[in-house]
Amino acid sequence: MEQKMLDALNEQMNFEYYSAHIYLSMAAYAGELGLAGFEHWLITQYEEEVFHAQKFYHHIVARGGRAVIKGFEDPEEDYDSLLAMLKTALEHEKIVTARIHDLVKLSDKLNDYATHNFLQWYISEQVEEEETFTDLIQKVELVKDAGLYILDNELKSRTFTPPSE
Ligand code: FEO
Repeated sequence: MEQKMLDALNEQMNFEYYSAHIYLSMAAYAGELGLAGFEHWLITQYEEEVFHAQKFYHHIVARGGRAVIKGFEDPEEDYDSLLAMLKTALEHEKIVTARIHDLVKLSDKLNDYATHNFLQWYISEQVEEEETFTDLIQKVELVKDAGLYILDNELKSRTFTPPSE
């Protein structure tokens, strides 16, 4: 694999771990508000992000590259409200989508067909990620405080099953 592609994949692997930390921090914020369902849901999101990062790790290694683990800035600890937090999450996912699209462009430019193929999963995943947060924001805006308790209970049942590929 070309060095430029390897560096870009390593950067995204670390960004996915950073995303995981952001959602874990959001889970802690929700927990502090007493919203155990949102806390659980966001911890599941954290697990998904670790999975996203690990997929990058395995692709890098499978292609004979070296995965380079970096640190990252501290995630936000506090938000103005639950809704503000979810809107921040959606904006974060839009950044991830743009980053994945840039990686696809780079793989095309370098004729790296294996990486191009590998990234297709993330293109679909990002459509889901943005839709998930958009839906949740809509639900929170609809139910407002009266329904928050019901929605909180609904979120407790989220599970994560890694795809078999
Ligand atoms: Fe790994 Fe939420 O994108």
